[in-house]
This record gives sequence, C-alpha cells and structure tokens, in this order.
Amino acid sequence: MDYFNYKDNELYAEDIKVRSLVEQYGSPIYVYSKATLERHLRAFEDALAGKEHLVCYAVKANCSLALLNIIANFGCGFDVVSKGELMRVIAAGGDPHKVIYSGVGKREDEIEFALQKQIKCLNIESESELHKVSEVAARLNIKAPVALRVNPNVDAKTHPSISTGLKQNKFGIAFEDAARLYQVIKNDPHLEATGIDCHIGSQMTSGAPIIEATDKLIALYHELEQMGIKIDHIDIGGGLGVTYNNETPPSPYEYLAAVLQRLKDIPVSVYCEPGRAMVANAGILLTKVLYLKSNSERNFCIVDASMGDLIRPALYNSWMNIVPAVKRSASDALPGSDPNGTLIYDVVGPICESDDFLGKDRRLNVREGDVLAVRGAGAYGSSMSSNYNGRPLCAEILVDGDKAFVIRERQREEDMWENERIISAIEEEFA
Ligand code: LLP
Repeated sequence: MDYFNYKDNELYAEDIKVRSLVEQYGSPIYVYSKATLERHLRAFEDALAGKEHLVCYAVKANCSLALLNIIANFGCGFDVVSKGELMRVIAAGGDPHKVIYSGVGKREDEIEFALQKQIKCLNIESESELHKVSEVAARLNIKAPVALRVNPNVDAKTHPSISTGLKQNKFGIAFEDAARLYQVIKNDPHLEATGIDCHIGSQMTSGAPIIEATDKLIALYHELEQMGIKIDHIDIGGGLGVTYNNETPPSPYEYLAAVLQRLKDIPVSVYCEPGRAMVANAGILLTKVLYLKSNSERNFCIVDASMGDLIRPALYNSWMNIVPAVKRSASDALPGSDPNGTLIYDVVGPICESDDFLGKDRRLNVREGDVLAVRGAGAYGSSMSSNYNGRPLCAEILVDGDKAFVIRERQREEDMWENERIISAIEEEFA
C-alpha cells in the first residue's frame, strides 16, 4: 500500500496533485511520499519487535539525504557498500555505530575510514579481504568487528541479474569455507567475529529461499558454538520483493515472522538489509509526453525521462507500471483507439539507444503534453541514474501531506562538467 492514489481521475501524492508538482518543478521529477516510507519503516520494525534486531536500510536502493535522514530519525541502521555511502549516511545524520558495510571490493582506505568511524560490522566477502581488514585494524591498533557474508548456494528464484546467493555469483564466501575462516578470525587478535551474514538476491516474491538460507546460517551458528565462537547477530540480508505488476510477495510481517520462528531459540540479534521493499513504492517518476508518433507497426509515446533517469526497464527488461497523472475518459480518445479509449504504445525516452524505454506495449490514452507517472520508482531509480547523452539529473521532491519539499535541485547543464578541465587551461596553470 502507498499514498499515491487517484481522486476524481487525478493522481495524488498524499494530498497534492502530481500534475501540479510538474507545473511547479518541471519534468522529469522523482516524487516521494514521506507517509509511505514511514509506513514501510514501521512495518519492518513492528515485524521484528519480538526479538532484538537492527533494520539496516540498504542505501544503494535510494541514497537521497532527505530519505536517509527520515530513516535515521526512525532509529534504523544502514547497510552501505562504499565510503561514499557511509559518508552520505553520516551527512544525513545517521549513526555510524548502526552501520554495516557489505560489498566484494572494499578498498583499503574505505576499510580504514569505516573502522575509524567505528561502524557496527564489516561483512567480509573473501579470505583476502579478511586479511586486509586485519592488517588495517592492526595498524589502527583495534579489533575490527566482522561477519562473514556466506554464500549459502540458495536459489532466490529471481531475475539472474539480481540473484546473488549461488555459486556462480561473485558474492560472499563459499559456505564450506566459512567455519575455517571463523577459526582464522578467532586466532587473530585484531579481528572479532560478531555475526554471520548473507544476502541471496533481490525482488524475491516468496519467503521460501530466505528460510532455506536462514536454516543454513543456523547450522553454521551451531558449528561455531562448538568451536567456542559466540556471535551476537545473524543478518539475513535484504531481498524482499515488491509488486510492480502482478507479483504477490509476502508482507514484511509474513516474511520476517517465518525467519523469527526459525531463530526463536537462538540468542542472537536479527539484522536485515531491506532496500527495495522500503522505498520502491514510496517513489514515482513523473515525466511529460513530448511527442506521439506512429508507423505501420508501432505507436511511440516519447517522454522526457530516459534510461538515464530510470535504467531498470532497459537494463533488466523490468516491467514498471506507467499511469497517467490525469485519466482521460474513453470519449476523449484518439482515432483508432479501443473501446476503452487506449492505444498500445512503447513509452520511450530521448536517449539515442534503442533500449531507452520505460515500458513496452502499454495501453494508454495520452496526448502530447500529458504527464505520466512510473510507479514503484523509489528504489534503484534515482540511485542508478546517469548523465548519458548530456542530460542533467532530475529534481527530487518529497511530499509530506499537503507540503512539497525540493530535496534535490535539478542538476544544471554546467554542473555536469564542473570537475572537468580543458588541457590548455591545465597547461596555463603550470606555465
Ligand atoms: N544487502 C546487500 C548486500 C545487497 O547487495 C542488496 C542489493 C541489498 C541488501 C538490498 O536488496 P533489496 O532489499 O533492495 O532487494 N538494481 C537492481 C537491484 C540490485 C540489488 C543489489 N543488491 C534492481 O533495480 O532491481
């Protein structure tokens, strides 16, 4: 459930007509609903209320400072995968002590920065990385809190590009190597094993894979116990899916209740790293229809948002719901439309790539100048955007009831080359 709803054929973001947001702030824009985000935060917190826990929002899904600030104020932690994300969390008012740090390729300076900030835990993804963390911790004369991100070889049954828990994926440490590496940690005066971690994939629409993974982590927990290693948390990663089309993922409550049931007799804190489920439905991308054109095969609806603003359809062939900001009646339809007043369009962007599309084969009743909304765009939309084809990053608006806040100004064209230099200017500098 979210707070983007129609009233009298007008799409609203909470109490504001989305069309009016485009009139005021231009197009394209990302629009977020604060109430929706808070609803999702509450859902995760409530679901875990019966056990000690830490919800670590996966910053990669949407790294907007304003959203991170709301999440931090809610008391949540964060899952980061770079120094940049950690710095963002801190800049947004997040507590570094509630941060866990994942990722297969952490640089030495990133590890050092994270340890200096005294983050909660580093999730280690290889034996080499473990040695690197030990080396940095020894130099800083501290004991680094670590968890192994184990790869449980569980099929998340999701799109191959966002599946991470199988042996063919680059992520995590092979399950069969984990116990040996926990012993390495135990023997190292500069490392402390505080947890076991996994993340098996994203957009999971059933709870079964995470249960299978949790059972493997529990087996490892008992093996570590026998080795005299007492960890304080089990981290089940992120991955809970959302409804883009007709998927029926479990609610956070259903998903986590099954995990908690498995962990009820294990004296650990439960961590999770939701990204998508927290923010996807809290955001929409609004875009204006520039031109309509047709040939003998297809109708194209050319909009001003591109794969640079929202790459999911182009990159994964993801289906995202595209709806009008104002619904037109069937009587107000273009020639050739079906009885509902719609024509079938490919909704495409202005970028010079055939894959620059937001949706294919969509039934729409649109005119040039209309505003369309791509729903479920709060996760992996803005955070994956780029300047390709010389297009500035779009503005972002946060709606709270009847108030709208610009939480990111639209990038200016000249901002895109702000850090570049022409060589004659460099030569002059050194002359
Ligand atoms: N934890 C780790 C270690 C991760 O790698 C990820 C996502 C998450 C948590 C959060 O997963 P979520 O709850 O959002 O499923 N760009 C793709 C998704 C890539 C996910 C990468 N890792 C997409 O747009 O579908």
